[in-house]
Amino acid sequence: MKKYLIETYGCQMNEHDSEKLAGILDNLHYIETSNITEADLVIFNTCCVRESAEFKVYGNLGHLKSIKKKNPDMIIAVCGCMMQQSSVVDLIKKKYNHVDLIFGTHNLHNFPQLLENCKQSDSMLVEVWEEEGEIVEGIPAIRKYDLKAFVNIMYGCNNFCTYCIVPYTRGRERSRSKSEIVSEISKLVTGSTKEITLLGQNVNSYGKTLEPNIEFADLLIEINRIEGLERIRFMTSHPKDISIRLIEAMRDCDKICEHIHLPVQSGSTKILKLMNRDYTKAQYLELIEVFKREIPNLSITTDIIVGFPGETEEDFEETLDLVKTVEFDAAYTFIYSIREGTPAAQLGDQISDEVKHERFNRLVSLLNDIANKKNKSLLGKVLDVLVEGKSKYDDTKLMGRTRTSKLVNFAASEGLIGHTVPVKITVAKTFSLNGELQIPL
Ligand code: SAH
Ligand code: SF4
Ligand code: F3S
Repeated sequence: MKKYLIETYGCQMNEHDSEKLAGILDNLHYIETSNITEADLVIFNTCCVRESAEFKVYGNLGHLKSIKKKNPDMIIAVCGCMMQQSSVVDLIKKKYNHVDLIFGTHNLHNFPQLLENCKQSDSMLVEVWEEEGEIVEGIPAIRKYDLKAFVNIMYGCNNFCTYCIVPYTRGRERSRSKSEIVSEISKLVTGSTKEITLLGQNVNSYGKTLEPNIEFADLLIEINRIEGLERIRFMTSHPKDISIRLIEAMRDCDKICEHIHLPVQSGSTKILKLMNRDYTKAQYLELIEVFKREIPNLSITTDIIVGFPGETEEDFEETLDLVKTVEFDAAYTFIYSIREGTPAAQLGDQISDEVKHERFNRLVSLLNDIANKKNKSLLGKVLDVLVEGKSKYDDTKLMGRTRTSKLVNFAASEGLIGHTVPVKITVAKTFSLNGELQIPL
């Protein structure tokens, strides 16, 4: 049996693509290994959303050279978002000639053929499609977690936020048909899946490319009817495309979790305009008000970029002000990274590293204080926790998540893994909670 190892960088979209590669390799009778020195096939599924992601890939590709020297038959394949940039492919051809196969995000479904061709070839095989083709259905997937499964509902992005490389690496927006999605989820729940996360770069514009049109809210309502499914999550939502019908669907459908990930990126209307986000600070805050009014106990998380070109101290303070007003439960914070080929890379007034780091630290410290305060408000409450497995930090404990996506550690027997149980919150930390299992009467 041949062995494979896949190293995944980047977002859930990439993680799920790697699950598809694993499904394809399983069909080809490969088995997974975690020991790189014994792998016959190593795949790097790459991300280029920030420069740091690319550095990681180049560093690890460099390490592979000596490993391949000891195992010359090893096949090294590199795929994913980075490969959609011709400058990256040129650099790999020049500096990393121990790589055997390069393919992109649009031809992943052709992997079996590419692998076969690569085995027959003496030189590096490069096949990257510049444009997306039709959606290919029926690619098998081996999911890392059976309990919680990712399901693609759409691919690509049409928003062209000026800092972002994703529209160039993932192509134009296209939606899967409702029946394909519902049938995939229905199959998953006949196994051990209890929770699904619907994936798309902008799930709120789901259905626009379908004939007839269908709204994301209608898709959710349909998925909510699937028996055996317990929880529905989705990401990512773009504030400009949130509809009142979506908020109502979240309020009325029992399986949709009380959590919205709503990237704001900046609190300054001037910067939002430069980012091409298509909403103002006031509009974002109004939207949050509606969410909070309609869905009590909603947890709200976000993405924020610090140091976008032209960001002044006043602009940054607008972001701090927005963070204080919304009181996010958690946030992913990023230092702006220039991406060649995006409009923001051409803007003057790039912010110095020193200022970016100083602002970043102030922002993170404010976010942590708020997260801690919000978690403390849960002390004494009994919450439903879907038990995912053993705690990462304490072998004697289990871990799971609340519907609001908070991580809870608590003592209980392993037999509860895969079940939803009531847990009383006893300790609140910044990034997690501890609790006590409540035995229902
Ligand atoms: N489609 C999703 C995810 C995009 S990538 C969305 O719109 O939210 C995830 C996050 O990476 C973005 O939300 C943004 O905050 C961050 N990001 C994207 N490009 C970046 C860049 N050039 N520099 C820093 N952060 C970036
Ligand atoms: Fe990038 Fe904006 Fe599309 Fe998200 S919505 S993937 S940030 S261009
Ligand atoms: Fe995701 Fe990175 Fe591509 S964030 S879409 S893997 S550039």
